[in-house]
Amino acid sequence: MPVKLAVLASGSGSNFESLIAAEKEGALGGAKIVLLVSDNPEAYALERAKQHGIPTHVLPVKEGKEAWEKDLVETLLSADADWVLLAGFLRILSGDFIRHFEGRIVNIHPSLLPKYGGRGYYGLRVHEAVLAHDEKESGASVHFVIEGCDEGPVILQEKVPVMPGDTSEELQQRVLRMEHTLYPEAVRRLVKGEV
Ligand code: GRF
Repeated sequence: MPVKLAVLASGSGSNFESLIAAEKEGALGGAKIVLLVSDNPEAYALERAKQHGIPTHVLPVKEGKEAWEKDLVETLLSADADWVLLAGFLRILSGDFIRHFEGRIVNIHPSLLPKYGGRGYYGLRVHEAVLAHDEKESGASVHFVIEGCDEGPVILQEKVPVMPGDTSEELQQRVLRMEHTLYPEAVRRLVKGEV
């Protein structure tokens, strides 16, 4: 039986798409994406899932967090997910949720953690902070999810240069392009037990 992956995404889902492409190329260690969950009914990630025939589940954030997380746990358990991959998922998950899938939740963050991680560092804000600190390089990190925001052990990291005159949007795009090879490779290593 293939290793089963569930992806959680709130937005565009370009990382999700790169994981789908890697699965099709046999570059995910034989793992299969069995489910896409989104907290945002408007997420383009849902459209991508439909295009590829991947089952979707939308869990809009309207109830209390506890009830919402209970639904999420049940959804992931009924999909029999071995790994939970966060790909641009904007909700912070509680310790209770994390304990259900201890050591099996992974995230990608667009900076060289531990730099520019934690609450408040998301989207363009990460890249604005990198530029404000006059960094010469940035990058992305794939890491295990623990209770502290962006604090879990790093699985794989890759750097990209910061170019003179970069805008935060340009830097974001350079990092994102690199993420599209980094995340599948990190997942392949996990699935193969190489981490
Ligand atoms: C990526 O930059 C990822 O590192 C961060 O959120 C962004 C998601 O982009 N966690 P996309 O939705 O995969 O295009």
